[in-house]
Amino acid sequence: MTGRMQGKTAFVTGGGSGIGRATALLLAAEGARVALADIDVDTAEAAAALVRAAGGEALAIGCDVTRSSDVAAAVAQTVATFGRLDAAVNNAGIEGAITPITELDESAWARTIGINLTGVFLCLKHELLALRAQGTAPGSGSIVNVSSVLGLVAFPASADYTSAKHGVIGLTKVAALEAAAQGVRVNAVLPGFAETPMAERGRANVGPEVYAAVEQMHALKRLGTAEEIAEAILWLLSDASSFVTGSSLLADGGFTAQ
Ligand SMILES: NC(=O)c1ccc[n+]([C@@H]2O[C@H](COP(=O)([O-])OP(=O)(O)OC[C@H]3O[C@@H](n4cnc5c(N)ncnc54)[C@H](O)[C@@H]3O)[C@@H](O)[C@H]2O)c1
Repeated sequence: MTGRMQGKTAFVTGGGSGIGRATALLLAAEGARVALADIDVDTAEAAAALVRAAGGEALAIGCDVTRSSDVAAAVAQTVATFGRLDAAVNNAGIEGAITPITELDESAWARTIGINLTGVFLCLKHELLALRAQGTAPGSGSIVNVSSVLGLVAFPASADYTSAKHGVIGLTKVAALEAAAQGVRVNAVLPGFAETPMAERGRANVGPEVYAAVEQMHALKRLGTAEEIAEAILWLLSDASSFVTGSSLLADGGFTAQ
């Protein structure tokens, strides 16, 4: 089997569901060995089983991205199992409190920032340390952070989520500048609203009529699929994007073009 990720090892956080799961399956189909790290290890194991059933190599790891020791151990287990690290997708995230600032308590704010922003920082830290330790050849390492259209624009009642996702874009630029000297590229993908378990929870929270209006806010007049977001992530991880670093790639059905 040859593919765009042939011979590479990829580490995907939030790999048990939605965009992370679709990404892990696509990367494996393109020849990568994949480590799926998720706080819900059962879902990661189920996704890993799908990869193996299709003839690929996969490892499921229980990991809370807010805990530095968990992330360090997950990256180390990936390297110990597959021998190296080439690609990482910092995707684990939650939808946030969906509450106006005046009603948003500090613990809800801290939880969203902890997973969606600090979690990405901790992953970058341990991935870059592992890539440095293995002596990555120039141009062979690539990391993608999953932000959102809410990394560029805002919705009411999304202070925690929007702040974290804006932060991920800044963090991506800093990491790209710092990692360039070690031959590693770092980019962000900014999905529009995509049909995943997160969207199902969102629809249940705010009501189907609100979600129908959100659908219409995309120029393409539909939500994306997890597989469509995974394709953008794959391109940034693959050698096809070898001159791209520090960038934010919109995969948003035209949401932010208007
Ligand atoms: N679905 C959308 O509309 C949409 C739009 C833009 C951006 N995003 C972003 O895409 C990413 C994936 O979202 P999704 O829609 O696939 O959601 P999802 O809920 O389907 O999957 C998220 C995964 O992350 C895992 N996770 C949550 N907290 C974790 C933690 N502390 N440590 C490790 N794993 C953890 C969950 O267990 C789950 O498997 C998120 O960062 C999200 O903000 C999603």
